[in-house]
Amino acid sequence: MKIAMIASECTPFIKTGGLADVIGALPKTLNNFNNKTIVILPLYSQIDIYKHNINLFYESMCVHMGNKEEWCSVYKSTKYGFDAYFIDFKAFFGRNGLYNDENNEDFNDNSYRFAFFSRAAMQLCVDMGFEADILHAHDWQSAFVMPFLKLWDWQNTSLNKSKGVFTIHNIAYQGVYSSDIMDYAGFWWNHFNSEEFEDNGRVNFLKSGIIFSDLTTTVSPTYAFETKSSFEGRGMGPYLNNKKENYVGILNGVDYSIWNPEIDKLIPANYSQHNLSGKKICKTELQKRFGLEVNPDIPIFGIVSRFASQKGLDLFIPIAKRLVNEMKLQLVVLGSGDKGLERFFGELPGQEPLKIGSYIGYNEELSHLIEAGSDFFLMPSRYEPCGLNQIYSLKYGTIPIVNAVGGLNDTIEQYNEFDGTGTGLKFYTCDSQSLFNTIGWAVSTFFDRKHHFEMLRKSGMDKDFSWDRSAQEYMKFYKKLK
Ligand code: ADP
Ligand code: GLC
Repeated sequence: MKIAMIASECTPFIKTGGLADVIGALPKTLNNFNNKTIVILPLYSQIDIYKHNINLFYESMCVHMGNKEEWCSVYKSTKYGFDAYFIDFKAFFGRNGLYNDENNEDFNDNSYRFAFFSRAAMQLCVDMGFEADILHAHDWQSAFVMPFLKLWDWQNTSLNKSKGVFTIHNIAYQGVYSSDIMDYAGFWWNHFNSEEFEDNGRVNFLKSGIIFSDLTTTVSPTYAFETKSSFEGRGMGPYLNNKKENYVGILNGVDYSIWNPEIDKLIPANYSQHNLSGKKICKTELQKRFGLEVNPDIPIFGIVSRFASQKGLDLFIPIAKRLVNEMKLQLVVLGSGDKGLERFFGELPGQEPLKIGSYIGYNEELSHLIEAGSDFFLMPSRYEPCGLNQIYSLKYGTIPIVNAVGGLNDTIEQYNEFDGTGTGLKFYTCDSQSLFNTIGWAVSTFFDRKHHFEMLRKSGMDKDFSWDRSAQEYMKFYKKLK
């Protein structure tokens, strides 16, 4: 089949979160199953065109918006197992930041930027004669592909038989903007009603993606279930319920060519479950890098995360110091986002030297080192559509500690203290005390039930979350739509 993936991030070109990892891996895997999958992205100025062999493809492409025509260029890279195309429009994408500025404030023209991007991606398919069976859009940023496909006329173009698949990676970000976007996007005002675009007098991108798609998916079965409820659905529950069997949860996979301790080039020593000596080297290096006491016998708890309320990291505020003073453990934190949390985690190492280390910022290499060198990995998310780091942790022999929601619930099996089965430690109430208690449970397992600690680690490393299975599921649903 022919599939065009339209998204706002893709590893290794540009990444702020897990969406990028999905878009970097799913197309490659689909292509291994004899599909032709292309990826279309914005050409942000942060993308290094030399490193990724990105070259000019179309000098100028005309994109008709509702009330305006825009002219952009298109670039292309074939370096990573799929054809990646980049929409080059400097007025929208030539700035610092993907969605927000240095102060974490949304750009005020985001609706225009991504309405244009969605429309331009479709124009590119038409101009190339790419006869897409499926246009697969992701999150609110490319959601408008779905109404464009249904409300504009594509007869006599290469998209005349295309079906629309829309994947929700995070329902909390819906893209709700002023209704003036209707004119720019070229949607008639009769569609500005609560069953289509309208949301409290504004336009809701994500909602239109759900309503106009042929199939809506999300990234784990539990999150699919949760989002149908009024609380976790954040207003989208009724529309998701209406889709009936056309709303499904498909678990993300892992790109084991990147996240695998046997071949990972970003960690100081490689290792496997049969020979864990390299993991010890990684632990020592991690302790050195974060200024912690170098001691193999102290368990390290790692965190790599966006600092957003979703991730529950504020739960550490009342307990971080108690944790390292009442228990024998070390904590390392890598992340950025919320300014209050940046300050909190940034100051902790000064207050608890040798016990807590942190790095405020985005750092690919450190994220791998933390996965490899830690003994436990912490994800106290309030909600988690899928979550990737807990799955990476399994492969790195780093035992995940998670709040049992969404994909965290689907990917981690609870430790059974009687027989040592399971792959991680789950808690069921998302508050500081439960987190504290579960970390205590982990520490006691590390010191008092070492054989269980080893069993958990081995069971996790045995797990296979490769993309093959997930890609086959997507294919099954794509075929149903044909
Ligand atoms: P989300 O997409 O909600 O942020 P995921 O668990 O799906 O959560 O994916 C997060 C991805 O982003 C992981 O690959 C993780 O390693 C990476 N990541 C998050 N924060 C950082 C950071 N500060 N530095 C490096 N990588 C990060
Ligand atoms: C989102 C979610 C995360 C998921 C990722 C990739 O950013 O927050 O849970 O793993 O998308 O689907």
